Amino acid sequence: MAKGKFITFEGGEGVGKTTQIRLLSKRLNAAGIETIHSREPGGSAGAEAVRHVLLSGMAENMGMSPAGEAILFAAARADHVDTTIRPALEKDTWVLCDRFMDSTRVYQGESDNVPSELIDSLEKLAIDGMVPDLTFILDLRAEIGLARAHKRRPDGEEADRFERETVSVHEKRRQAFLKLAQRDPKRCKIIDASQSEEEIAFDIWTIIERELLADQTGIEG
Ligand SMILES: Nc1ncnc2c1ncn2[C@@H]1O[C@H](COP(=O)(O)OP(=O)(O)OP(=O)(O)O)[C@@H](O)[C@H]1O
Ligand SMILES: [Mg+2]
Repeated sequence: MAKGKFITFEGGEGVGKTTQIRLLSKRLNAAGIETIHSREPGGSAGAEAVRHVLLSGMAENMGMSPAGEAILFAAARADHVDTTIRPALEKDTWVLCDRFMDSTRVYQGESDNVPSELIDSLEKLAIDGMVPDLTFILDLRAEIGLARAHKRRPDGEEADRFERETVSVHEKRRQAFLKLAQRDPKRCKIIDASQSEEEIAFDIWTIIERELLADQTGIEG
């Protein structure tokens, strides 16, 4: 039985997922809990190769259908679960992951209209029971997130194909993330990402303590 916890961070571009994973990781490490920081698409050698094909727009430019892309995402996820996530959890390491299955539901399911039956069966195959213990959905107006993502990018580096889409597409995804959270409130926690980094980290830590650490003794916050 895995003893580590699996926590995913979801939300649009530039909402602060990577920043919050770093902060949470530090806090957990200080409490004596080992962590790894992973991401999707990617997180394992095979999946990182697929990431390049997906985010560069290569698959799209070659005329691959949204369903084909969804299958590629699922292949990458299956490899990530098998070679990175499950082995870490079995060693008591907590896995903090930047995007996971909810991003597929929103980006491929809602934005690209991949049929929900296909999304469901791919999800089942790819995650193989590995449902996150907790998912933080960082909620922020799309234009603020995009402006943050833009500011962060080094000069000369191009936006990936998802960042290039319009604000209204991003705003629809934001609503889709909120809808997902409402359907699964036990796992998915909505966090107000317009707050300062410290305030967001505080909200996240409060939930971690309540949901995941309350039954563990000897851990100090
Ligand atoms: N609460 C915050 N308030 C203001 N700026 C923030 C906040 N959190 C993060 N930022 C800044 O916004 C930018 C994007 O943050 P970050 O990279 O953590 O977001 P992300 O969700 O991982 O983005 P992406 O989807 O592009 O990977 C960074 O420059 C970061 O320093
Ligand atoms: Mg990031």
